[in-house]
Amino acid sequence: MDEPLILVEREGRVGIVRLNRPRVLNALNTSLMKELADVLEEMDRDENIGCIILTGQGKAFAAGADISEMADAAPFQFVGNAYFADWQRVRRVEKPLIAAVAGYALGGGNELAMCCDIIIAAETARFGQPEILLGVIPGAGGTQRLTRSVGKGKAMEMILTGDPITAEEALDWGLINRVVPPEQLEPEALSLAQKIAEKPPLAVKMAKQAILRAQEMSLEQGLHFEQLAFGMLFSTEDQREGMNAFIEKRKAQFKGK
Ligand code: CAA
Repeated sequence: MDEPLILVEREGRVGIVRLNRPRVLNALNTSLMKELADVLEEMDRDENIGCIILTGQGKAFAAGADISEMADAAPFQFVGNAYFADWQRVRRVEKPLIAAVAGYALGGGNELAMCCDIIIAAETARFGQPEILLGVIPGAGGTQRLTRSVGKGKAMEMILTGDPITAEEALDWGLINRVVPPEQLEPEALSLAQKIAEKPPLAVKMAKQAILRAQEMSLEQGLHFEQLAFGMLFSTEDQREGMNAFIEKRKAQFKGK
């Protein structure tokens, strides 16, 4: 029987999702991306999960889109929504996604990490957009997300040379949140995910949506979204519980309602 392309575990309220094509450094073919989107959407609907970790099985996070699958593609396969539909599904996940990156996050691998909300890296991690070496450019958001993340000059350098950067450089450039020794990668990601997963789920969801809008909208539109989201949270039991618990000097018990 074929190995599953995606492995799923749970640790309390945290879902752990592993890309599982280690023999090809977790190259992202269309079947894997579809399964990934299916699994993430299922976890997004599951009220017993509050935060999701995405990581790679073996020595890489992901070395990019599957080049052997892509090599003979026709141009219009990539134009429009068809090819990247599953990437859009990943991007629309409402719960926080933490990428735990060890080894290579190249091309689509780096783009997938950037679809996540927080990136934690092992010292072994290497981030890059080497598509230029294949005669193309990033196609799953790299030119846009990398530029928003590290700024024009550094994005230009990475995308035009194809050279990868180290985890320390990625930290210094603001691409990732923290760097840890390889053996600490999963414990660190898990402890952060658990901390987020304990928070009131509706507020977490709205916070993620509002922060993403800071990169997608004008300041005026973003502030308007924030105000609406802030106001809407006053319709939740968790808001009343959170504020009453503060006043009564006790720990809040959130329900996601
Ligand atoms: N697609 C398909 N197979 C891949 C792959 C990819 N992106 N990356 C690695 N592999 C395969 C290799 O072909 C090799 O398979 P075989 O054992 O069958 O030969 C196996 O994984 C191990 O790889 P290497 O032997 O090359 O390992 P290495 O340690 O010598 O080198 C590497 C590692 C530098 C990451 C090298 O594999 C590499 O350069 N990979 C390609 C990286 C890349 O160009 N990514 C961008 C893809 S395009 C893209 O992602 C477009 C987009 O924006 C959506």
